[in-house]
Amino acid sequence: MTIALVILAAGKGTRMNSDLPKVLHPLGQAPMLAHAVAAGRALEPARVIVVAGHGADAVGAALAEIDDEAQVVLQTEQLGTAHAVAQARDALAGFDGDAVVLYGDTPFIRAETLDRMLAARAQADVVVLGFHAADPARYGRLVTDGDALLRIVEYKDATDQERAISLCNSGLVAARSEVLFDLVGAVGNDNAAGEYYLTDIVELARARGLRTGFVTCDETETLGINSRAELARAEAIFQARARADHMENGVTLMAPDTVHFALDTVIGRDAVVEPNVVFGPGVSVESGATIRAFSHLEGAHVGQGAVVGPYARLRPGTELGNDARIGNFVEIKAAQIGEGAKVNHLSYIGDATVGDASNIGAGTITCNYDGVMKHETHIGAHVFIGSNTMLVAPVTIGDEAMTATGAVVTRNVEAGALAIGRAEVVNKPGAARKLMDMLRARKAKREGK
Ligand code: UD1
Ligand code: CA
Repeated sequence: MTIALVILAAGKGTRMNSDLPKVLHPLGQAPMLAHAVAAGRALEPARVIVVAGHGADAVGAALAEIDDEAQVVLQTEQLGTAHAVAQARDALAGFDGDAVVLYGDTPFIRAETLDRMLAARAQADVVVLGFHAADPARYGRLVTDGDALLRIVEYKDATDQERAISLCNSGLVAARSEVLFDLVGAVGNDNAAGEYYLTDIVELARARGLRTGFVTCDETETLGINSRAELARAEAIFQARARADHMENGVTLMAPDTVHFALDTVIGRDAVVEPNVVFGPGVSVESGATIRAFSHLEGAHVGQGAVVGPYARLRPGTELGNDARIGNFVEIKAAQIGEGAKVNHLSYIGDATVGDASNIGAGTITCNYDGVMKHETHIGAHVFIGSNTMLVAPVTIGDEAMTATGAVVTRNVEAGALAIGRAEVVNKPGAARKLMDMLRARKAKREGK
């Protein structure tokens, strides 16, 4: 079956008290909206339509990063959920398949749940996702009769008897695209809120002799985010899920509660992650790699068997070859580190390539920035860079070359050569004692002794 997703994301999110549109607030280091898109993407939809309103330009720009095939349609006035869905009508004109309505602020929906909604379409023309709420509060209530969904009543419009129902509306709906747009087109706004309620399509469908059904899911999946406090709770839920998923995939987490993942973190089997590690966006770690304690990774790829940290920082554009070693207090940015190469202590390697099996000594720095432009450093294979070498980019070090400790390398070093660049040391016998005596005498005089 061909699927189109219609993701509602036009609401203001007043309770976030923010200039940033609600659906762009980060969760798992990705905009909230990316979570709904990712869940929906599992259905392999032919079309993805996001209905934006408040901050639509920002939402559009973010969406282009999240999913470049998704399309934004505008809802200039937020007149209700049915009105929001109706904005996707033109974009989906002639679309022959099912439309699934999702919410941009409901990030935890599982792909399996969406699959069950589509499966339920065999028995019903309109399928709504419901859940049993521990505290039904102000959710819309599902009025059912056996397997049939009779109608949905919004809290504001419900009688006391209806408010006693604990089966609630998640807001997600699946129906044939054409049917859905016909129904939303017929929705009016004669209700307590004066809004066009998407929920009204259930009664409208039944009046036309269509079958209306529902499936249920766990309440955690339908959790919506409306405030910063809820965002913080959602982050905790996301992290708990991510930790469980990675462990199930064969990743060892020594202290799961202290490791923070991003939505797109990919980690191979038998990788080990020590305590207090943060994965920013865009990280992939191959199998058998070890990420040691207190490391921070972002936009980085870690090869098989490589070891990172403790206390390492991998910034965007980092590519670590298999079995590479990045040690404590080392920062890598936009650099490829070859197979088995080592940068073990107190170094900054940026805008650079390091060949296989090269060893970068403690305190080495690629001086890549001249205050205006960034320049590249290229280090060959089997190179030995002495401790505290300053590699003043642009500069190239040939294979099997060496630099002496403390060298400031401003010129290319050819393969096999040794670069030495430091001031000569002069030893003066007895001068240290003499100097100390003089300084102590000066201090005593100042203190009036
Ligand atoms: C809606 C449902 C309610 C359900 C609840 C679940 C209706 C009428 N009510 O209520 O039954 O229990 O969700 O969370 O559908 N949006 C737009 N444009 C609009 C209005 C809303 O894009 O004009 C988007 C919002 O950004 C949000 C989603 O639709 O992502 C839901 O809107 P919201 O106003 O939060 O609906 P509720 O009143 O919570
Ligand atoms: Ca809501």
